[in-house]
Amino acid sequence: MTDKSANQMWGGRFAAGPDAIMEAINASIGFDQRMAAQDIAGSRAHAAMLAATGIVSDKDAEAMREGLLTILSEIEGGKFAFSTALEDIHMNVEARLKEVIGEPAGRLHTGRSRNDQVATDFRLWVRDQVDAAIEGLQALMQALLGQAEAGADWVMPGFTHLQTAQPVTWGHHMMAYVEMFARDLSRFRDARVRMNESPLGAAALAGTSFPIDRDMTAQALGFDRPMANSLDAVSDRDFALEFLSVSSICAMHLSRMAEELVIWSSAQFRFVTLSDRFSTGSSIMPQKKNPDAAELIRAKIGRIFGANVALMTVMKGLPLAYSKDMQEDKEQVFDAADNLMLALAAMTGMVSDMSANRASLEAAAGSGFSTATDLADWLVRALNMPFRDAHHVTGSLVAIAEKRGCDLPDLTLEDMQGVHAAITDEVFGVLGVHNSVASRLSYGGTAPTRVREQVARWKEALA
Ligand code: ARG
Repeated sequence: MTDKSANQMWGGRFAAGPDAIMEAINASIGFDQRMAAQDIAGSRAHAAMLAATGIVSDKDAEAMREGLLTILSEIEGGKFAFSTALEDIHMNVEARLKEVIGEPAGRLHTGRSRNDQVATDFRLWVRDQVDAAIEGLQALMQALLGQAEAGADWVMPGFTHLQTAQPVTWGHHMMAYVEMFARDLSRFRDARVRMNESPLGAAALAGTSFPIDRDMTAQALGFDRPMANSLDAVSDRDFALEFLSVSSICAMHLSRMAEELVIWSSAQFRFVTLSDRFSTGSSIMPQKKNPDAAELIRAKIGRIFGANVALMTVMKGLPLAYSKDMQEDKEQVFDAADNLMLALAAMTGMVSDMSANRASLEAAAGSGFSTATDLADWLVRALNMPFRDAHHVTGSLVAIAEKRGCDLPDLTLEDMQGVHAAITDEVFGVLGVHNSVASRLSYGGTAPTRVREQVARWKEALA
């Protein structure tokens, strides 16, 4: 047992203070001080409501308001001495309020508990991160739109199984990511709507006998309404889990794109050149320019998804209502949010700065018999051949080209007619990569015309 006195916030029935190890496992101030601004906003809303409902005097509420503002500027100015003995941000602020304004500070916690307080603070904190993620995604989408617009008709190989499949346009490939990140953005927006309800006033778990006005505090904090069930309000963390799961999906998208940048910037591909600003060198190999930012973005999904699994595991066995286990929610979410924002910013920087190597893309687009499907489609269209037969004829022509070490457009008409007598020299019109992409005009297809339509649509949507 230590010689510390009992806790000044709840020590009424305690004769002694906590063991040092108890304090170490119990305290959250080391990390939850990040919610100081939210905690003070919540307390200000609560204090104003206590006065409006006549639960405390206007004079006391005014003292609380001023005291809380003083504390906020102390914290923002780095002049606040956080105390581990005071456990968390809530008790640190309240204890300091007592020092600053004296007796009225003790009335602030009327009709409130740390349980609804922490649920409120954390919702506000996560809501800010949702807004930051939405902004980050919008910036990334703008960067991708810039690339897509510049290269709407640049050709490159499209892959399946990372094997050359059909030519596509650079713009189309960029716009695929715009679609993915747009869905992430809409998932964040959906999550925001669901999380934007106020737990404040649920008190410890059962509500309170004081005539509080929960609509008033909800409104003051920008929530759409108070949560309808006090047990639910203090005990669920699904809003944080939703943030983590949406973040995980978004990080997965970022990771896939990062993987492509790693591959594309290699000497073997040379599809893109990353800017010096987003590359690093090697301490031993002078020729190296490494895509470290892309690699780290690719790795971030590990900790973000890890946080999701960790918090899901914390929550899954908890009886209603609050349990201290929930204190473990914050570090996971803080870390995931920090790293998601960093990954979004780094990806936006890389995409804005990178240059596509048009010549390498075009050369690669034409290799690997990438227009074989165009040839088969021509046989169907021009000779009315069933597609399965056309596939077979084309396969034979690919085999000839492969044996000869040339590409499909390098075969002669005689070669072609040797496989199928009715083929005419009109076929050469469809074997070029530019013709190939231009012909894919179906909605959602890779034709430059379609890509430009999508760029215009998204530019308007994001404006
Ligand atoms: N620091 C605590 C947390 O993060 C605040 C709530 C404490 N509530 C309690 N009943 N001990 O969860």
